[in-house]
Parts: sequence; C-alpha cells; structure tokens
Amino acid sequence: MKNTFQDLRDPVRSMRLVTSGDITESSFVDMIEEGAGPIKQFFTYYKCAIMEVETKFRVLNEQFSLNGESNPIEFIQSRIKSYSSIVHKLSDRGVPVTLINMEENLSDIAGVRVVCSFMDDIYRLADCFLDQDDIFLIERKDYIKEPKVNGYRSLHLIVAVPIFLENEKRLTKVEVQLRTIAMDFWASLEHKLRYKKELSQEKLEVLRGDLKRCADESASWDRRMQEIRDYIEAND
Ligand code: GTP
Ligand code: MG
Repeated sequence: MKNTFQDLRDPVRSMRLVTSGDITESSFVDMIEEGAGPIKQFFTYYKCAIMEVETKFRVLNEQFSLNGESNPIEFIQSRIKSYSSIVHKLSDRGVPVTLINMEENLSDIAGVRVVCSFMDDIYRLADCFLDQDDIFLIERKDYIKEPKVNGYRSLHLIVAVPIFLENEKRLTKVEVQLRTIAMDFWASLEHKLRYKKELSQEKLEVLRGDLKRCADESASWDRRMQEIRDYIEAND
C-alpha cells in the first residue's frame, strides 16, 4: 500500500512507518513534497503577483523620470504574509484554515508598499497603475484624505492581477500601500511601539495623543514639502 502525506499527520503511524523501515528516507521526502506541493504552488501565485505589481511600479518610475522629473518612488517593499499571521487571521474570524478560504477571505497575502517622495506622486502613480487594463480594482481606501483616528495615513488599493502560468491564467489579489517617506516613518515606528509591554490605560492614552501629534506634524511636513516642490516647478 502506498503511504501518503496523510500518514505523516498521525505521529504514531508515521513513527511506526519510519522505525519499521516501511518507508525509506527518500519516500519520506516524497510524502512531504506531496503535501507541500499544493501549498508551495498556492504561495507561488502570490509571489508572481508581487513581481507583476512591482514591475509595473518600476516601469512607471522609469517613465516619469524620462519626462525630466525626478523619480517619484523612493523604494518598494514587498512581503508575503507569514503562515502564522494567515492562520491567526482566519481563526480570529472563525473561518476554517484551508487554501480556498485563504484565497477567498484574505486580500493581503501579497503586499506591496510603494514609498514615494511627495504626496502628489502617490495619486499620479496610483491613477496610472489603475488605468492599466490588466489591473482590476477591488477596493480603495484613502487614509490620506481620511486618516485613521490614530493618525495613520496611506493610500490602500486592493487589486487583482492576472498571473500567466504554463497552463493557466489566474487572477490574484494584492494589497498595495502607497505612502510618503514621512507616512512610512510614522507607520513603521508606530507598528514597533504597538508590541511594547503592558501599560496602564492612562499612560496609553497619553502615548496615543503623542503619536497622533507626531502623525499630524509629519503630515504638515508632507504638505510643506509638496508646496516647496510646486513652487520650484512653477518657477522653473
Ligand atoms: P487588517 O486586518 O489589519 O488587514 O485591516 P483591514 O483589512 O481593515 O485593512 P486596513 O486597510 O485597515 O489595514 C491594512 C494594513 O495597513 C495593515 O496590515 C498595516 O500594514 C497597515 N495599517 C493599517 N492601519 C495601521 C495603523 O494604524 N498603523 C500602522 N503602523 N499600520 C497600519
Ligand atoms: Mg487587510
């Protein structure tokens, strides 16, 4: 009888198989790969979707610089959501952890963060990106026009992008976050501070106020830098 990946899920059974010599080292590896195959394939779609989206932004960055302007993108950061975050997010929502449920319920397995120099660059890049006929907008959240109560600012786009594989074409979801350096600076530090040790409610309120003030100040820096740029361009 052929042993399968399912046999490996039962510790007693898999131990018996190994110690009895019923499976060799290489068939053990085969069984792991049999189980891991669909998971690897699933995450490959998202990896490819990230590559597609990143390339689109890199091309736009080059194209803007051809017009005699400076490059609008400072840097791009991408990530695939970790297995543990995926599992936690589904379990928190009471959704069973399956590949189909991951695909249907999560929009941020693939994430691309585009950090721009100036605020106007964000909207210009987003418009050009969304105008492309193979990009399908699923959701747009403008936390720049309407920042979160804590002060968080960024433009979020959930899009679907087609991935062309050997025998299939697959629409894959990607979360794109566009922000300025100042927005990114604030969000990165705020994210780190969130994981700090337990503090009293009173102290937390004070810190929340401080963080909100930092967000407001960095927003005013963004506006002033944009005004300086507009002035220079108008007087060029
Ligand atoms: P999530 O369950 O966190 O994905 O929230 P959501 O589906 O309502 O999406 P939302 O657009 O609010 O946030 C998605 C992502 O934006 C997060 O995973 C973070 O990367 C970023 N983000 C949103 N809010 C904040 C915030 O207050 N602080 C920081 N540092 N990042 C944030
Ligand atoms: Mg999300």
